[in-house]
Amino acid sequence: MKKACVIGYPIAHSRSPLIHNHWLNTYGIKGIYEKCPVEPEKLGEFLRNLATNGYVGCNVTIPHKETAINFVQNIDSIVTKTGSLNTIYTENNTIKATSTDGEGFYQNLVTSLAGLNLNGKNVLILGAGGSARAVIERLLRAGVANIHIINRTQARSEELALLFGPKVIASLPLNLPSLMQTMDLLINTTSQGMQGQPELEIDLTPLPATAVVADLIYVPLKTKLLLAAEARGLKAVGGLGMLLHQAVVGFEKWFGVKPVVTDELYRLIARDIDPSFR
Ligand SMILES: NC(=O)c1ccc[n+]([C@@H]2O[C@H](COP(=O)([O-])OP(=O)(O)OC[C@H]3O[C@@H](n4cnc5c(N)ncnc54)[C@H](OP(=O)(O)O)[C@@H]3O)[C@@H](O)[C@H]2O)c1
Repeated sequence: MKKACVIGYPIAHSRSPLIHNHWLNTYGIKGIYEKCPVEPEKLGEFLRNLATNGYVGCNVTIPHKETAINFVQNIDSIVTKTGSLNTIYTENNTIKATSTDGEGFYQNLVTSLAGLNLNGKNVLILGAGGSARAVIERLLRAGVANIHIINRTQARSEELALLFGPKVIASLPLNLPSLMQTMDLLINTTSQGMQGQPELEIDLTPLPATAVVADLIYVPLKTKLLLAAEARGLKAVGGLGMLLHQAVVGFEKWFGVKPVVTDELYRLIARDIDPSFR
């Protein structure tokens, strides 16, 4: 029986076991996906013993996404560029790692909005944290024309502009209304709007009528930003689909089957987040 897990500290609220165990059932694979609380000082020991303890790999979440790099033999170009990982797997007796958040965001966007072509598009990203890095890395590979970043801490958006090169521009919050006029895609990667966090208050009026608004947050399932986008008649994409799509890569590496993100899976996790979801 193949065994995988998610490690973090704390880890109680992770939805990854629900997702992966649903797929294991769906595809009739003899396997199990567990939740493992791993304290920061025990991370090295846990990863060194991963295979010995019977795991084919693991997901990695807060607070280990950056520090885990020190304990992996082989990281891919996404991890090198973004400085964080979320998926560890073994191949030819080597511990390897990738980061699937960017791919999850991209796949969710293009499957939610059939026919969407990001080539040459103007993108505005709010936030400059770990998830912004992952999204920027993937959008640049998708061929977007440029990415403006607006963040509370200006130094962090400038750091990302330096890291990713001339297509990525650190912009000032006061320029938000004028910037919006030419944007095809606006993405919230901040934790503003998440349950228990301050709301994100933005007037979306300047966005073109064809613009898409995406939010990485999935608790609540539909943030005020997305409700405001829909009220303006814009296409709105939430964060739960990203969570489901980012899990595809790990599952395939560990269990050998590329799983499909179905409406059934979406409803299962949505109801876990919000029991009133229909
Ligand atoms: N759907 C998914 O699969 C998925 C995956 C990853 C993350 N997420 C979600 O994405 C969000 C960000 O995650 P992350 O890993 O990027 O976090 P992070 O690295 O901690 O970055 C947080 C970002 O939010 C900004 N921020 C936080 N509080 C703010 C406030 N009150 N006002 C203005 N800006 C504020 C920070 O600005 P400063 O730089 O100024 O501190 C920073 O840019 C979280 O809600 C997380 O749940 C979703």
